[in-house]
Amino acid sequence: MKPSSREPIHGQWSSRWAFVLAATGSAVGLGNIWKFPYITGENGGGAFVLVYLVCISLIGIPIMMAEILLGRRGRRSPINTMRHLAQEEGRHGAWRYLGWLGILAGVLILSYYSVIAGWALAYLVRTGSGVFTGLTADGVNNIFYSLVADPERLLAWHTLFLTMTMVVVARGVRSGLEQAVRYLMPLLLVLLLVLVGYAMNTGAFQQALGFLFYPDFSKLSPNSVLIAMGHAFFTLSLGMGAIMVYGSYLPRHVSITHATLIIATADTLVALLAGMAIFPIVFANGLAPGAGPGLIFQTLPIAFGRMPGGEFFGAVFFVLLIFAAWTSAISLIEPLVAYMVENLRMTRVRATALAGGVAWFLGLGTIFSFNIWSGDRYKLWGLTFFDLLDYLTVNIMLPLGGLLIVIFTVWVMRRESVMSELGVKDGPLFRIWYLVSRYVTPVAVLLIFLHAIGVLQPLLNP
Ligand code: PHE
Repeated sequence: MKPSSREPIHGQWSSRWAFVLAATGSAVGLGNIWKFPYITGENGGGAFVLVYLVCISLIGIPIMMAEILLGRRGRRSPINTMRHLAQEEGRHGAWRYLGWLGILAGVLILSYYSVIAGWALAYLVRTGSGVFTGLTADGVNNIFYSLVADPERLLAWHTLFLTMTMVVVARGVRSGLEQAVRYLMPLLLVLLLVLVGYAMNTGAFQQALGFLFYPDFSKLSPNSVLIAMGHAFFTLSLGMGAIMVYGSYLPRHVSITHATLIIATADTLVALLAGMAIFPIVFANGLAPGAGPGLIFQTLPIAFGRMPGGEFFGAVFFVLLIFAAWTSAISLIEPLVAYMVENLRMTRVRATALAGGVAWFLGLGTIFSFNIWSGDRYKLWGLTFFDLLDYLTVNIMLPLGGLLIVIFTVWVMRRESVMSELGVKDGPLFRIWYLVSRYVTPVAVLLIFLHAIGVLQPLLNP
């Protein structure tokens, strides 16, 4: 089977770096800086981090390679790519529903992602204007709760963030994105290092390192394992077609393996640095590691309020966080927009307006989860709308999508097609990847699912 010579419909990246940067932009986002620390805190620390790292290596990396490979071979939006590749391999057209699953997950995730990114926008204004200077942990807490208690303010920030996202998507993801990621991503790393440097002097750095890296397996429930796996998908943008769509714009000669390793390493590094910046502040101020989704907003401002030049560093930090969230949000609706442009013959602008409108509306559910719907009356199994949406999309839909992607690649596609698209010979490295992807990855995902169902049972039938 010859490598595909198809040209991508929506244009191509200008170079390997453009792809790596865009995919890193998609991967590095709120998942690393906002979500990783708070779920690590909620799930007991070290053992959770270890499972997450194992999931990145044995599940995330093989699936990322598979996803890029499918995208580049299909050269279309995920739905059409799956339909086309299934046809090419003489398989059932139902594989295209995998594309639909991803598109649905993307829009659902974007709806809450944008609300949280809105918090970062609100915090940019607060930090920049010195609101946190000299505040105690309690004072910082109050500011957080007064923000999330106000649906109107949350709505305004959510609307602003989603509009920013839609503007970029409407203009086509490639213009601007490459340049921006190239300069801002390294800056984000530098700023995280500054924060880690500050955290080293809080007096609780050792304690934080112990919390993050000393695995205490008694704290690990089956549900925590599922959350760690879900997060590996979420943080690498896997299982919903974002990486597939970016892969579809990838020039032929680029090594998928190298690109994957760079993206996964950068993403993991950012998450670990964020953890190392945040937990020392948590412990030094006697805060609870399991404080939940507000964790970074309740901790980092304490540091910004005390360090010299904190207003400046704080403002730069939130600019970079917003930027990181922005480049991720773009990739969350790109699969849907690409599909609408291809199949419904819409202009990009119209497609973006429609897709963004749906995400905007759904975002109301997340906004209300923190105020008017936060009472028990509005909860299901003790979870708010936001918690449920996050659980369903990240812990179920993404792993399911990723599982099907890897099964399609290594069980359904011919081995020669896979090899030719990867551009490799039948060497030891290829064999290892193929073996891991055929046996280890799918079995691991399935086992984690089954393990979690065991605990969900009593939850579902109280
Ligand atoms: N990876 C992004 C983050 O960590 C979120 C994301 C998930 C983006 C899925 C695209 C697809 O913030």
